[in-house]
Amino acid sequence: MSQTVTMDKIVAFCKRRGFVYQSSEIYGGIRSSYDYGPLGVEMKRNIKEEWWRHLVHMREDVVGLDAAIIMHPRVWEASGHTATFNDMLVESRTSGRRYRADHLIEEATGADAEGMSAEEMTRIIAEDGRIKDPVDGGRDFAPVRPFNLMFETYTGPVKSPENVVYLRPETAQGIFVNFKNVMQTNRVKVPFGIAQQGKSFRNEITPGNFIFRTREFEQMEMEFFVEPGTDEEWHEYWLEQRWNWYTSLGINPENLRRYEHPKEKLSHYAKRTVDIEYNFPFRGWSELEGIANRTDFDLKQHAEFSGENLEYFDQATNSRYVPYVIEPAAGPDRIMLAFLVDAYREEEVNGESRTVLKLHPRIAPTKAAVFPLSKKEPVSTVARQLYEDLKGDYRIFYDDSGAIGRRYRRQDEAGTPFCVTVDFDSLEDKQVTIRDRDTMEQERIPIAAVRDRLQGLISG
Ligand code: GAP
Repeated sequence: MSQTVTMDKIVAFCKRRGFVYQSSEIYGGIRSSYDYGPLGVEMKRNIKEEWWRHLVHMREDVVGLDAAIIMHPRVWEASGHTATFNDMLVESRTSGRRYRADHLIEEATGADAEGMSAEEMTRIIAEDGRIKDPVDGGRDFAPVRPFNLMFETYTGPVKSPENVVYLRPETAQGIFVNFKNVMQTNRVKVPFGIAQQGKSFRNEITPGNFIFRTREFEQMEMEFFVEPGTDEEWHEYWLEQRWNWYTSLGINPENLRRYEHPKEKLSHYAKRTVDIEYNFPFRGWSELEGIANRTDFDLKQHAEFSGENLEYFDQATNSRYVPYVIEPAAGPDRIMLAFLVDAYREEEVNGESRTVLKLHPRIAPTKAAVFPLSKKEPVSTVARQLYEDLKGDYRIFYDDSGAIGRRYRRQDEAGTPFCVTVDFDSLEDKQVTIRDRDTMEQERIPIAAVRDRLQGLISG
């Protein structure tokens, strides 16, 4: 069913139901920037909380961190971003538009251009007549050049070269530069991980596909430090853990696959990288999360550039070494798009059509809605009291307007897994009806049991 979902449908749905809006829309919008509305912000928070719960709170061997976005510029020299965090840019002289040269070549010829040099791409674009400006069909291109994706800004009032700083393009480096701090202030022992969530920024040449690729986005990354020699085993372990995280939250495993990066295309720091990909109906298999074996590259680079010793002393073996790092790196914006697409259904039920988001209760923006069958007292008083008792742990919605069927439909669309209705019988039997979003079955239970029942259904 989700395979029939188009991007236009999802974008329109997200706006209509208050999940995601175009940023600065009243000014005509700004490309590649999106704002999360009342339901979207709840859903994204749930994704981040589930990641944190799974990777930090449920484990004894992972601690959290929240590092600054603006870091010392030497960090990016050490990590290699200043020199190599580039995409190949080509400008069309006919339309003035700029494109990613590898994408232009790949789309016109089917050839794999990733990793080619600027000179090679310039030659192919000049010689292959199939490569045209997608806007006007022109064939007059400037030479391909590398374009650094980091956003530059200045600290303080003087815009001089020595004051240049960058908005971080990944959260990972904040973890590496705090490796020593965390080791010295927490009783951690290798193997252990440091997890972080937060905004990252990349001046993407061609952002697109809604919240799939934007210039400002969030990341959820964990660097797991291990003894060299045990890295391959830990890599497999984290691949499995991360796969299970998605399926345990309801993603259809048929829409997931592993993609092994070919050796010759690995990032400069990686020994092996495997992506978990999702089969988006509008763009096919695409990276949801990358799980890399970063070796000891980053710690060694930071040790060299900072002059600090970033070795680990293993008391058990009385030896020193620089740990290897396994890095599961994900993004909640992209994951949210996958969850939305996977859960979106248009169904015919008893001759009526309904749109329903079959989100896992842990991910659903609103966990339950409380409806009084009538707006009048005393039904409304009982319903209001139930709402007051339930609220606080998660988002509960109170709705007393319109026919009950319409109220159910609104919550189906919002992905709310449970609706609790207080009716006239509730006054006598002190019971209410809980309706399940997916089966639409209704069950009558005592008012006093609702809180525990919901808790069980949501965390189950
Ligand atoms: N530290 C490694 C790293 O940053 P990455 O594959 O470039 O690896 C990790 O990014 C994750 O961050 C991606 O799988 C994706 O979910 C998210 N991400 C990266 N660039 C993004 C963008 N422009 N917009 C939205 N999400 C992005």
